[in-house]
Amino acid sequence: MPGPKPLIYFDNASTSFPKPAAVAEAMGDFLSHRAVNPGRSGFDLSLEAGRMVDQVRGRLDRFFNNPAADPDRAVFTANATAALNLSLQGLCSPGDHVVAPVLDHNSVLRPLTMLQKAGIITFDLVPCDERGRVDPAAIAAVIGPLTRLVVMTHASNVCGAVQPIAEVGALCRDRGILFLLDAAQTAGLIPVDMTALQVDLVAFTGHKSMLGPTGTGGLIVGPDVDIPSTHSGGTGVRSASLEHPDEFPWRLEAGTLNTVGIAGLAAGMDWVAAKGIDTILEHERGLADRFLAGIAGLKKIEVHGCGHPHPTALGANHLPVISISVAGRPAEQVGLFLDTDWNIAVRTGLQCAPLAHQAMGTAPSGSVRFSFGFFNTPAEVDVAVTALEDLAG
Ligand SMILES: Cc1ncc(COP(=O)(O)O)c(C=O)c1O
Repeated sequence: MPGPKPLIYFDNASTSFPKPAAVAEAMGDFLSHRAVNPGRSGFDLSLEAGRMVDQVRGRLDRFFNNPAADPDRAVFTANATAALNLSLQGLCSPGDHVVAPVLDHNSVLRPLTMLQKAGIITFDLVPCDERGRVDPAAIAAVIGPLTRLVVMTHASNVCGAVQPIAEVGALCRDRGILFLLDAAQTAGLIPVDMTALQVDLVAFTGHKSMLGPTGTGGLIVGPDVDIPSTHSGGTGVRSASLEHPDEFPWRLEAGTLNTVGIAGLAAGMDWVAAKGIDTILEHERGLADRFLAGIAGLKKIEVHGCGHPHPTALGANHLPVISISVAGRPAEQVGLFLDTDWNIAVRTGLQCAPLAHQAMGTAPSGSVRFSFGFFNTPAEVDVAVTALEDLAG
């Protein structure tokens, strides 16, 4: 009797797994030897922890090429969701109008809805085409005199379509509107260059392609952005004042930082830098191409958001994130089959982007999403193709 099948993890767009061994080692080492509160006290260990945190701020500032070139404007949060909430709540004032694409994640759509229900903002949602791309002209068309902000995802977490960010950046700069980029899916996989893309703020997460642990992420604030605090508390500086400090990074940070996670994030960034993002992307794109070529002949299977139901390779502007559906089978059922019969982990349903699914015609059941990571192999892809042949051949 054969033993249990080894896990094949194709849910890297949710969170990358496994992480490089160096990430756990860095976290274990920091936790064992240096995990005191940074910057709160003058003793050596506290200063050392503070230096580590500041070094990572500097790395993030350079990684995202912030034109501010100011590490203090790299603010740590628990994840991309927290960074998006922080920026949307901080930047929007009563009467403001915001523009976002339907592709956006609930971590944008829900804060916008909350602000709208509170009577603070109005917002317009812009459609996408059959390739999952938003037309910058459609954004331009809904910009009005009250528009304060455009917020959009760099790439769809449902179909992987990379958005025309440079064009939207140029448009926003031209109209004097702030541009907030959700780089949750792209940071660590393709360049996120704030200067080249003319982006004012980047919300990122550490636990996907940056290969850091969960509980890490942040907001990179450009030079011309005046964003107030949305929460306040202890910072370790100017403790006699009952008012929260105005200087970055404290302006947007309160309470003890996730230093253990930040140490792990730094190790993840080291690993990505040593391997090279081009090498990582090439490997993952190769896996996606192999998968698409493998299932192209299975006519009961449809691929969404690629402009063609049976593509044989990933388009140029797509990350290795592929959403499929199987005729006559709800997404959840396909996920269950892959899990129980093949030990293949995928993400099914709406992937927290319900309007992207409405646009692709896959609501309400959603899709079966395969997202590849650097540690996946061609042999694993072949097992997934065999499993799908078994189900839909
Ligand atoms: C496009 C996009 N934005 C935001 C998020 C939220 O990221 P986090 O879970 O780190 O808050 C995700 C996570 O899936 C995402 O894919």
